[in-house]
Amino acid sequence: MLRFPQGHALRVTRLTSPRNVGAFAVLRGVSLTRSYRKPARPPLSFVFDIDGVLLRESTVLPAAKRALTLLEGDNAFRTKIPYILVTNGGGKTEEDRCRDLTSQLGFPITTSQFIQCHTILKSHAHRYAEEPVLVLGGRQDEVKKIAQGYGFKKAYSTLDVKAWNPHVWPFYDLTPEELASTTPVDFSKTRLSAIFVFHDPRNWALDVQVAIDVILSGGVIGAPYVNPKKRSSAEKPVQLVFCNPDLQWGAQFQRPRLGQGAFRVAFQAVFKGLTGMEYPYEQYGKPTNATYQFAETVLREHTAKVLGGPVGGTPSVYMIGDNPESDIAGANAAGWSSILVHTGVYNPEDGPPTHQPTHEAEDVEAAVKWAIELRRAYGA
Ligand code: G3P
Ligand code: MG
Repeated sequence: MLRFPQGHALRVTRLTSPRNVGAFAVLRGVSLTRSYRKPARPPLSFVFDIDGVLLRESTVLPAAKRALTLLEGDNAFRTKIPYILVTNGGGKTEEDRCRDLTSQLGFPITTSQFIQCHTILKSHAHRYAEEPVLVLGGRQDEVKKIAQGYGFKKAYSTLDVKAWNPHVWPFYDLTPEELASTTPVDFSKTRLSAIFVFHDPRNWALDVQVAIDVILSGGVIGAPYVNPKKRSSAEKPVQLVFCNPDLQWGAQFQRPRLGQGAFRVAFQAVFKGLTGMEYPYEQYGKPTNATYQFAETVLREHTAKVLGGPVGGTPSVYMIGDNPESDIAGANAAGWSSILVHTGVYNPEDGPPTHQPTHEAEDVEAAVKWAIELRRAYGA
């Protein structure tokens, strides 16, 4: 009796002659093919927030490694449970950040399971490929390089603007490292068509000043200011895009720190002070629908990758986060289950969370254990 490795079957492509089918035929066209059986739908899948759940800045939270160990197979289902990481953080390339996370968490984290707040802009870059744009956030030229890597060929930073004309913001001098990271550009001859806030700005004052200059001068810094209410509709307004709405985030300090969302509030307050109006903007990052829909696609594709083929139907999704405003609100709106942990922004002593999670847990390990037990008890 012919035996074949698990999951393989014999496929006869061509017989020498029909007569001797019963006997052992001389087979020319023979190949071992994998009989395709749709991989079993995993019992559940996870979406992890990073800051305040797995890490606090660069410190790995003790429960993080134990939680991932459970998903790598050491669980009641004796199977790998797919998971992705979705953070409102940013400021590094996806490849670099995955390299860091892999060494911090001790498990391979690949770009197919990783989303940061500006990853979604990859799909926008083609529209701005040849357009000069301003990118904000991060240190020196980190964010400019990420934007160029996404396809924003003419991405410039506020440090480039300051280097071009130091009088644009007289209260700060560039450090030698910052100056070395700048690109010489004549902004009086360059019309910036959009401002993308990729990551948390380091120099709020410089960034607010330059962003206001770009918008009120119709993209050409130094040109006369025109109140947007009075700008002719024929003129294409400067686009303003924020990637992370978090007012606060869970860092090393014992109280949450101001995030990119707080920078947006500060910018709009100054803009309103000057013009009487807030400037319209596009928002990405958790809890926006765009980011959760993007995450659902990434989770489905990564699950298929882990399991070696598209699985029938979407396994139940558990989002584990520390921020009710971004992680829990977004997961609830996406129809996922949501688990709020007490290791980051949210502190139960501050009262009930602003968005009700499916469950609350001390830390990420307790959260994963709770979800696995629930699926085991009530069936996948
Ligand atoms: O700057 C990052 C912060 O806003 C939150 O990151 O990982 O908790 O979504 P995360
Ligand atoms: Mg967080």
